[in-house]
Amino acid sequence: MKKVVFLTGAGMSVESGLSTFRGSGGMWNEYKIEDVASIEGYERNPALVLEFYNKRRQELLTVAPNEGHRLIAELEKHNEVVVVTQNVDDLHERAGSTNVIHLHGELMKATSTDSPNNLSYVRTLNQENLEIKIGDKADDGSQLRPYIVWFGEAVPMMEDAVLALRDADAFVIIGTSLNVYPAAGLLNYAPAGIPIYLIDPNDVQPYLPARIKVIKSGASEGMKSLFALLSGEH
Ligand code: OAD
Repeated sequence: MKKVVFLTGAGMSVESGLSTFRGSGGMWNEYKIEDVASIEGYERNPALVLEFYNKRRQELLTVAPNEGHRLIAELEKHNEVVVVTQNVDDLHERAGSTNVIHLHGELMKATSTDSPNNLSYVRTLNQENLEIKIGDKADDGSQLRPYIVWFGEAVPMMEDAVLALRDADAFVIIGTSLNVYPAAGLLNYAPAGIPIYLIDPNDVQPYLPARIKVIKSGASEGMKSLFALLSGEH
């Protein structure tokens, strides 16, 4: 069974109704990245940061996986599939993907401010219990915070992502500008000789390695055109 590893970014969820971060209409035009997505921003104004992620969580409840998410999940019938995602939404899981590595954390989870990567303090939020407020405590007694990897923090899941890619037969990148490291650096761990596809409807970075086959379309269209090839169904 062939192994396919995906790396997805904000563009994966655009057709579900979520915004990208960069470019026109991107989230970082409306909010300052250093205010809401950095550890310094959280230390400066935790209430603002909690509110930002409370809003993102509300928004997530109003959207659903798109055809691209569904096709990636369906590929599990034919292939071993690992989805490495920079997205903090749960749309891959809701579409049915069973092996998802979240490099930048998960919106529907909360953790301890003092030990954010101690999994015993990570708890899952739900529709009835959606917001994190100042004064909410993790089990270690420190302020509860979003389970999000902010700029300035370590990316502990990177090691699992690198391991997953090591024996892949194909690598598919969807909807990421490849601007943020270490996630973008995953490209360097693709085994020599395996096909690498990049699905994005917009112009991609000009200095990408020549071996990458660019499919200039949205996530759903791109996945439709790749599905037969990846699954071995012709
Ligand atoms: P970006 O906003 O940087 O890039 C989104 C990419 O999606 C762009 O290349 C778009 O052209 C592409 N895109 C737009 N519509 C699409 C569609 N329908 N189908 C496929 N692709 C489409 O988002 P990321 O690369 O994911 O981190 O950003 C990486 C990280 O930066 C995020 O995880 C977030 C952010 O700051 C944190 O907040 C820690």
